Amino acid sequence: MQDTSEDPKRPCKHTLTQMPYASEFFVGRSAELANMNSFLKPSRSGRNGVVLQGISGSGKTQLALRYIDQFGGAYSHVLWISAASADEVEASFEEAANSLEASGTSIPVLRSKGTGGDRSYVHACLSDVLEPNWLMVLDSLDAPSIHARRYAPTCDKGSVLVISTFADAKRFFRLPVIELPDLDEESACDLLGSLVGRHGNTATDDEVDMSMLVLEIGSSTKC
Ligand SMILES: Nc1ncnc2c1ncn2[C@@H]1O[C@H](COP(=O)(O)OP(=O)(O)OP(=O)(O)O)[C@@H](O)[C@H]1O
Ligand SMILES: [Mg+2]
Repeated sequence: MQDTSEDPKRPCKHTLTQMPYASEFFVGRSAELANMNSFLKPSRSGRNGVVLQGISGSGKTQLALRYIDQFGGAYSHVLWISAASADEVEASFEEAANSLEASGTSIPVLRSKGTGGDRSYVHACLSDVLEPNWLMVLDSLDAPSIHARRYAPTCDKGSVLVISTFADAKRFFRLPVIELPDLDEESACDLLGSLVGRHGNTATDDEVDMSMLVLEIGSSTKC
């Protein structure tokens, strides 16, 4: 039988938290996906990480979801942490802790209640119990404070994808940054075609203009 253990196209074995809704109309971004994978793909040792930076509505969250869809098979566990506020961060860690407890894996780490308890528990599992090829996504970390550096465990393992609108992301996170440009013209036309239910035909000039307009509006209003 063929060994598929290294096939990144398989779905991730375990997602410890719920993911946001993935658009069924996703288009383009193949260069960014390959770039993300070059920074994030699990290595035999050491921490991998990258920041996806762009203005609100530029498509960062959708791109991260597509990355997980395409490359999730390379990871043992995926955690999606909503990092827009401290409360959301704690809620995400609580959900991940519940999943770990319910997973049936024998985890020799004590889960203590109280502030930071679930985060410490999840960190201990990531550091000492789970396979090292996990992926943590920190989504909407737009106003990072000093606390944000403690969202990922300090161990020298795993992959961390930070998603942020923060302009000075590179300096703050000390990670490589992928800046997300607007969709290219061809992808914008594909998107408009999907939205209006046209498949396979070449876009007219009017549709090209309309696609670019939709993109501009989308970036400013996040449709
Ligand atoms: N590659 C894409 N293909 C199709 N639609 C896209 C794509 N990227 C983004 N969109 C559309 O744009 C909307 C905004 O994208 P998304 O939520 O990923 O932006 P964001 O950069 O995460 O914004 P924010 O910083 O406010 O969270 C999505 O709901 C989706 O409809
Ligand atoms: Mg987002």
